[in-house]
Amino acid sequence: MGKKQKLATEKTILAIDTSCDDTSVAILAGARVLANVVASQTNIHQQYGGVFPTLAKQAHQENIEACTQTALKRAGFHDENKIKDQLQAVAVTVGPGLAPALEVGINYAKKLAKNWQLPIIPINHIEAHALSPLLQPKTKKINRKINFPILAMVISGGHSEFILIKNIGDYERLGWTVDDSAGECLDKIGRMLDLGYPAGPILEKLAKKGNPNRWSLPLAMTSVENFNLSFSGLKTATHQLIKQLKKEEKLDAQAVYDLAATAQQQVFAQINYKLEKILLSSDLNKKIYPKAQLTKKIKRGKVTPPITAINELWLGGGVAANIILRTSIRQTLKNYQKLSAKKINLYLPYHKKFCADNAAMIALTAQFKLDQNKTAVEDKLDRQPNLKIGTFCQAC
Ligand code: KG4
Ligand code: ZN
Repeated sequence: MGKKQKLATEKTILAIDTSCDDTSVAILAGARVLANVVASQTNIHQQYGGVFPTLAKQAHQENIEACTQTALKRAGFHDENKIKDQLQAVAVTVGPGLAPALEVGINYAKKLAKNWQLPIIPINHIEAHALSPLLQPKTKKINRKINFPILAMVISGGHSEFILIKNIGDYERLGWTVDDSAGECLDKIGRMLDLGYPAGPILEKLAKKGNPNRWSLPLAMTSVENFNLSFSGLKTATHQLIKQLKKEEKLDAQAVYDLAATAQQQVFAQINYKLEKILLSSDLNKKIYPKAQLTKKIKRGKVTPPITAINELWLGGGVAANIILRTSIRQTLKNYQKLSAKKINLYLPYHKKFCADNAAMIALTAQFKLDQNKTAVEDKLDRQPNLKIGTFCQAC
C-alpha cells in the first residue's frame, strides 16, 4: 500500500507562466482556482508553423499587465492596497521554456513581489504539468488523499516524459523523448499537411473521419530496453508517405483524414507501449525493464505479472486534452488490471484548459514549495530554459 497524503495547506498565491506562447496569470486558494487568465498568441505564431521566440517575448510584454489586472479582478481583489495582505506569495515559471519568454514573467514577478513585499517562488513548468490533476474548481473542495507512488505522464508540445512521483517534490524521470515530443510531432505532421498551428487538436478532429490502419507506419523504440520515446522516425515516415501521395496525386481529403488517424494512433501506441512496460517492470527503483518476450508470456498467462508499486496515473500537458489518448490509456490500465488484478485510476486536470499551458498549475505547485520554504533569493532568480524535473533550482 502506498503512502497517503492530504493536499497542501491553503495559501493564496498569484502565479505567472510565460514559458512559451501563452501569457498566463492565475490566483489560487490552496488547490482551488479563483482566476486563471490566458492570453493566447496562436494568431501571431500561426504563420510560422511554430513559436517565434522574439515575437513571443514582445507579446508577453504587451499582455502581462492586463492579464494580471484581469486575474485580480476575477479573483475578487478589487482594492490595490489590500492585495499584499490577501496574497501569501508570487510564483513564476523559471524553466524549462524559451529564454526570452521566461525572462518577461520573471521580471514582472520580481516587480510584483517587491511592490507587495511578498516572497517569490520559482517553479518548474514540467513539475506543474505533472501536478495539474490536483487542481480544483473554485466552488468545490475535494479532500482527496494522494496515494504514492504515482506515475505522472507529461505529454505536451515541448515534453513527453514519464515521471515517478515518490512524494511531492521527490521525483524520478523514468523515461523521456530522445528527439521530438509527441505534440511537436503532431504539429509538424499538421504543418506538412497545411492544417494550421497548433495541429494537435485539428488532427484529432480530422482523425474521426479517418482510417488509422490504411498504412502501416513504424512503432519506434520497441527494441530498446528503456522507457524512452522517439517520434522523429514517425515524422520522417509520414513525410515520405505524403510526398509519395502528392506525386501520385492521391492526397485527397480522405487521405488527409487517414493520415491524421494513422499519425495520431502511432504516437499514442508508442506512449501506451512504454506505459505498459513501466507497469510490467518488476523493479522501478532498479530500472528493470521487461523484455518483449517476457511481456508476451505475461499476456498469454504463462508468467505471473509483477504487481507494480504505482498506485495512480496522472496525465497532464497539452496532448492530454486528446480523447483518443485518454481512452487508449484507460484501456492499457484495464488490460493491466486483467493481468494483475491491480486497479490504477487515471487522473486528469478537471478541465481541458488546464492540460494546456496555464498559470493555475504554477500556483498549485507553489503551494507545496511554500510549505517546504522553497522561496527564492531574489537576485539569484533567473530563467533556466533547460531545467529538468527533480534537478536543483538555482534560485532556491
Ligand atoms: O502543454 P502545451 O500547451 O504547451 C507545452 O508546454 O508544450 O501543449 C501544446 C501541445 C501542442 O503540440 C498541441 O498541438 C498539443 O499540445 N495539443 C493536442 C491537443 N490539444 C493540444 N494534441 C493532440 N490532441 C489535442 N486535442
Ligand atoms: Zn507546457
